[in-house]
This record gives sequence, structure tokens and C-alpha cells, in this order.
Amino acid sequence: MKDLDKATIIGAGVIGASWTALFLAAGARVAVFDPQPSAERAVRDYVAGAWPVLERLGMTGRGDPDAVSFHASAAEAVEGAGFVQESVPERIEIKHEIYAQFEPALDAQAVVASSASGLTLTEMQAGWRDPARFVLGHPFNPPHLIPLVEVMGNDRTDPSAVDRAEAIYRDAGKVTIRVNREVPGHVANRLQAALWREAIHLAKEGVASVEDIDKAIWAGPGLRWAAMGPTGIFNLAAGPQGLAEFCRRYGPSFHRWWDDLGDPRMDDETAQMLADGIAEATGGRSTAEIGAERDTLIVAIQKATAPLRR
Ligand SMILES: NC(=O)c1ccc[n+]([C@@H]2O[C@H](COP(=O)([O-])OP(=O)(O)OC[C@H]3O[C@@H](n4cnc5c(N)ncnc54)[C@H](O)[C@@H]3O)[C@@H](O)[C@H]2O)c1
Repeated sequence: MKDLDKATIIGAGVIGASWTALFLAAGARVAVFDPQPSAERAVRDYVAGAWPVLERLGMTGRGDPDAVSFHASAAEAVEGAGFVQESVPERIEIKHEIYAQFEPALDAQAVVASSASGLTLTEMQAGWRDPARFVLGHPFNPPHLIPLVEVMGNDRTDPSAVDRAEAIYRDAGKVTIRVNREVPGHVANRLQAALWREAIHLAKEGVASVEDIDKAIWAGPGLRWAAMGPTGIFNLAAGPQGLAEFCRRYGPSFHRWWDDLGDPRMDDETAQMLADGIAEATGGRSTAEIGAERDTLIVAIQKATAPLRR
């Protein structure tokens, strides 16, 4: 990478293995620590599987898939690394314990990011003697394929650590956003949750099938959202006067819809209804088969749109 020689991955499960592939493709040497004896084989297999996909996206020009090393301790793995991405299980006691293990071994300039989806930065900072260099760097699964990383610091974070993390992610081809205030689920997971809540409500009410509700997103607004966000799209939906005119014209309709949105709970009956609906939609195909189809489509969309982004 431009000015990052070595990155370290702490915790190499679903997310950590994917980060490993991304940082290798971006040209860093990557040191991995995961206590599972099977982790080295699993990560090497994951990188081998991800590499052709990254190649198709034109992201491997600087990289070497073999520039990865595996270490017996977190402290050994972080030695000499300029950037550390922590992706251990989402349990606060595990996060605190691992920070205590590697913090004393960090290089003076090293920045550390956590992939945590639900834990707040404040909760995780309690595991640090000096949390100034510690930020949130929340990816979307799989991080080597989905561009978004949500980056955050707070009043205990050195602002230059947030800038540094953002620069490293961008150099690796990611699209970053800044989260300015701690809320559960950061930004993107909350948006997903809001949409899924209404999808479930509509299915429960029998307004449409699970398959058709999914189709209503990927064949409709989902395709537009892959180009621009919802507010950017509505800016174009009421002629040359833009968003102000859209809000004036359609505000009352949105109020009517917002007032009628559902508030379902994820009880057993709801989970079963969704599982039955998706089984019908996918016609007995395995999740591996469907996952491969998802990756093919995402790579095709990325390949087509990335060169056109301003
Ligand atoms: N799975 C997702 O979709 C997703 C998306 C974004 C962020 N995240 C976040 O990423 C983090 C990791 O999630 P995951 O889905 O990869 O979990 P996972 O269970 O697949 O992987 C966790 C890995 O950490 C290892 N581990 C356990 N204890 C450890 C320790 N003390 N030191 C080092 N490694 C240790 C485990 O062996 C395992 O390989 C969580 O904070 C999660 O919230 C997950």
C-alpha cells in the first residue's frame, strides 16, 4: 500500500479472513493472529478463493497473496505493523482481553480499528490504557467485496488516528463514511433494519410474498440505491427544482406512509414465516450456490460502476 508496509489482522473468522484478502491485494504484508489451529488453512483457502474475484475487479495489481504470515500471539503479530484490524467475536470481554494482550507491543505510530457491528467505541475503549489510537472501522460482509467502511472516533480518540484509518481504507479501495455520534448499529445497519422491519410487516400482513417483497427492492429502488442514496435519488424526482420541490409535493404522502408502517417482533412464528418464504423463493438451492450468485452479481455491478464514479 502507498505508505503502509505491514497490516495485522487479529481474529480471522468470516470478517478477518476477508480483510486479510483485501489488505494483501492492496499490497501490504499481512500478519494474522487467531487462536484456532485451523485458522491458517482456512485463511489461506479464503484468500485463494477471493483472489480471482479481486483480480476481476482490478484490485490485485499491487498485491501478493502469499505475503501473509501466521503468529502464535497477538503481541507478536502486531510488531512493526502500521495498522491493526481487530475482528474477534462480538463479546466485550474477549475484545478487552485481546486489547490488553497486544497494546503494549504496538508500534508508536500504529492505528488500531475494530470491526465491531454492535458494541460501541466507548464500551471497547475501556479495554485500553490509552485509547487515542483506537477507532471503529466497521465493514460490510464481505469486506474485500463491499466498499463501505464506517469510521468513527470520539472525544478520547486522536483525530489523526481517524484520518489515518480512513486514508488506509481508501487506499485499499474502500468507500468510507464518518459516524459522528455513537448509536447502536452505526448508520448502515440501522438503515437495513428500518427497511427489513417494513419488509417483514408487509409479508406478515399478506400484502405480498417474501419473494416479491425482495424483488420489489432489487428490481426497483435497490438498483437506484446502488447508484445514489435515497435522498440523492429523490433530488431528481420532481424536476429541475430538485429536492425542495420533491419534499413539498410528496411530503404529505410520506407522512401517510410513515404513520402506517409496521413494528413487527422477531418471534418464532415470524422467523418461520420468513424461512418458509425464502425456501420457496430459492427452490431448494444451497446457500453456497446462492452466495456464489450474489458474489457474481455484486462483482458485475462493481465492475460496471466503479470506473464511472466521480
Ligand atoms: N459477520 C458479519 O457479517 C460482520 C459484519 C461486520 C462486522 N462484523 C464484526 O466483526 C467481528 C468478527 O465477526 P465474525 O463474523 O468474523 O466472527 P467469527 O466468529 O466468524 O470470527 C471470529 C474469529 O475470532 C477468533 N478469535 C476468538 N477469540 C480470539 C482471540 N482472543 N484473539 C484472536 N482471535 C480470536 C475466532 O477463532 C474466529 O476465527 C465482530 O465484532 C462482528 O460484529 C461482522
